[in-house]
Amino acid sequence: ETVDWDANAAEKGGYDHYMLKEIHEQPTALRQALSGRVNLDDGTADLDLEFPPGFLESLEEIQLIACGTSYYAAQYAAGLLESVADVRASAQLASEYTFNGGRDPWRTLTVAVTQSGETADTLSALRRANGAGVRTLAVTNTLGSTVTREANDSLFIRAGPEIGVAATKTFASQVTTLALLSIFVARERGTLSAADARSALADLRGLPGAVQQVLDEAETVREAAETYVDASAYFFVGRTYGYPVALEGALKLKEIAYDHAEGFAAGELKHGPLALVTDETPLLAVLTEGTRPAETLNNVAEAQTRGSPAIGIVDGTVETNALDVTFEVPSLGTATPLVANVYLQLFAYYIADLQGRPIDKPRNLAKSVTVE
Ligand code: AGP
Repeated sequence: ETVDWDANAAEKGGYDHYMLKEIHEQPTALRQALSGRVNLDDGTADLDLEFPPGFLESLEEIQLIACGTSYYAAQYAAGLLESVADVRASAQLASEYTFNGGRDPWRTLTVAVTQSGETADTLSALRRANGAGVRTLAVTNTLGSTVTREANDSLFIRAGPEIGVAATKTFASQVTTLALLSIFVARERGTLSAADARSALADLRGLPGAVQQVLDEAETVREAAETYVDASAYFFVGRTYGYPVALEGALKLKEIAYDHAEGFAAGELKHGPLALVTDETPLLAVLTEGTRPAETLNNVAEAQTRGSPAIGIVDGTVETNALDVTFEVPSLGTATPLVANVYLQLFAYYIADLQGRPIDKPRNLAKSVTVE
């Protein structure tokens, strides 16, 4: 008798793919990202970052530069920074970044967000910022990577190794670490009260448990994927922090399932994309706290009128009884859309798996893109 032992499956911890394993590792990854950094006594984030005296207080602008999934994490973070730290913040595609000489390099912080720390587009943008004399910060998963050597400071997201080409747990860890950074910067600048910071930190501390609740619903996501696997295209919508999550949900689906998927700011649907909507194009909408769900629901209804099946991720903030499928998340303030994103990861995974795609190594893609 032989023992049925598959070394490959063992490496994946019993999961069929690294991607699924890494999706399920998110509660652990998030605990690591938060470990020792949540200071509820003082209402701040302990990040072990030292800036020159007065630098953060006199800062006028934060530019986040990144590609792909990291860019969506940067977009999420730019919103958080603007709302709590009272500073102009923007996410910029690294491949499109040019440091505008009209800005004051001494009052600018450029943050390179890159899981691998080796993405050529991001490194090249970072070099442009360094060349302009801007202070730079690397936010990365990889100790000793090129980005950590070239930026002035580094902040680690502590997600642990990610093997699947599709970024999953690193997105969650990037957003969480950048949320801590936004609290840190805001407290240094005096734009966030200790009480408000404590409440934001408590929400972040709720993330691992909330993500676990979503993971416990994986089977219902697989059933929804079975219902919609033959769709001709998938559209994702959200507002505010739900918008980068919609973009990320669409990227995951196109990347691993090879199906047409697009993310839109929900309000933009009626300005063009609505013409694409049919009964074969399910709409996935983020309808939680932190996404202006009531307005988004109006846009969802516009698509439903044209026959579109609607899948909503909800937390009870709005009444949503006309949806075809609802996935529930607990409310965690502006961190809620990050929890919603886990449903979109699972949805993309199951749509791809049902079609037998090589999920961990999608065609034409590399884990780390080292050419411009
Ligand atoms: C997303 O699933 C991709 N792996 C890709 O978009 C990735 O996020 C991008 O290439 C940036 O990589 P980085 O975070 O290592 O810089």
